[in-house]
Amino acid sequence: MYDEAENITFGKGMTKMTRTATLILDGKKYELPVHEGAEGEIGIDITQLRAMSGVIAYDPGYANTGSCKSAITFIDGEKGILRYRGIPIEQFIDYPNFIEAAWLLIFGRLPQKPELRRFSELLTVHAPLHEAMKHHFEGFPVNAPPMAILSAMINTLSCFDEHLARFEDDEKFEVAAAKLISKVRTIAAYSYRRSMGQPFIYPDPKLRYCANFLHMMFSMPYDQYVIDPEVEDALNLLFILHADHEQNCSTSTVRMVGSSRANLFASCAAGVCALWGPLHGGANVAVIEMLDQIHKGGLKPEECIKLAKDKNSGFKLMGFGHRIYKNFDPRARVIKSQCDKVLYKLGIHDPLLDIARKLEELALKDPYFAERKLYPNVDFYSGIIMRAIGIPLDMFTVMFAIGRLPGWVAQWKEQHDDDTMRIARPRQIYIGERKTDYTPIINR
Ligand code: ACO
Repeated sequence: MYDEAENITFGKGMTKMTRTATLILDGKKYELPVHEGAEGEIGIDITQLRAMSGVIAYDPGYANTGSCKSAITFIDGEKGILRYRGIPIEQFIDYPNFIEAAWLLIFGRLPQKPELRRFSELLTVHAPLHEAMKHHFEGFPVNAPPMAILSAMINTLSCFDEHLARFEDDEKFEVAAAKLISKVRTIAAYSYRRSMGQPFIYPDPKLRYCANFLHMMFSMPYDQYVIDPEVEDALNLLFILHADHEQNCSTSTVRMVGSSRANLFASCAAGVCALWGPLHGGANVAVIEMLDQIHKGGLKPEECIKLAKDKNSGFKLMGFGHRIYKNFDPRARVIKSQCDKVLYKLGIHDPLLDIARKLEELALKDPYFAERKLYPNVDFYSGIIMRAIGIPLDMFTVMFAIGRLPGWVAQWKEQHDDDTMRIARPRQIYIGERKTDYTPIINR
């Protein structure tokens, strides 16, 4: 229960509540402070709960736990709202500049022209990898999963830039952020080249962020890849749509690792591993595999929906459902609307888009999905755009990681700058054996 009282505004976007929540346990009352966010989100503060009462909160999957206060991204999952530093995601469609969005997320406001220029220059300067790092790629098997290479190589960056683990000011942090955001693109492209047995292509300082990535992916030493501005714009938009999503699984991982004061690179390398899973970023691969199976006649859309509803099948409608969105994922809406545009401009007809539309139509009118508020998420349509711009399937989750990097960097910085930050260390409810005696091996 809440006790309503007057709120006192203090600091940026935060309200210190004079109201409290009362917990009654075994007849005893505990008053718990209540916090309210800038958009009215209410959180009961249980930081002193165990000290006061000896009990803990139980919330597996953290669906009801606010792990931090953050000013970076706002989501209203019921209304399908996503905003970066207050700016609705839809407003980036007409200005697809991933680097501007990255700076916004990390530093909290839109950059002025000189600031954007400086950051772009830093990205250019830091795009090449240390030559010694190039040899690491040769140690990976040719068919190694690119996400494994990406995580390993981001971690390896710590070996080459140890001093970047400490930041005295924002300027130093900006250099570290630029290094990571720029090099991740080079690492990603190199991992693809390695998997194809093709020579590495050095970054071209004359090219912008997305164009440079496409160049490193698809140019040959004897044949320069010609960059289509439509493709470049589509890639910018795709990265922007993935740039941050508050405390999701991979971002929480970055914060969890960073809370031990692990450096930025190590924390983001852990984020890549979390993103890899099929229930998170890996879903974009699973969606295309599912659509492809339907296309090749292995499965009918109606059967697919039936399987997804059957709890014993172990099958899920990939690209559908979200922990937070109980309405349309606004990113899916944007991507869906861009799919037609991009495919039309590139002169591509992708039958998988027709299948995706059919599946969506069937799912949206099915009570199973309606009752559970399951809608397409960002991964449902993103693969179709990636295919259109020539990205191979096993690079899809890597693309997600490149896009998400600015968000991880911003979240890591916000936590790093927060004086109240403590090491993340959840508790548990132990359900194992009670005290039992050790039995020597000969008596077992
Ligand atoms: N297909 C069929 N049923 C589903 C699906 C789905 N895609 N998603 C959820 N459900 C069902 C669950 O079985 C559950 O049913 P029940 O109430 O009868 O037990 C109900 O809907 C609620 O689902 P939860 O699993 O409790 O939802 P949760 O918040 O834990 O999981 C998740 C969210 C992981 C995204 C889930 O919807 C899912 O697995 N979707 C498919 C994978 C996917 O697309 N992941 C990408 C997410 S976006 C991102 O990470 C970028």
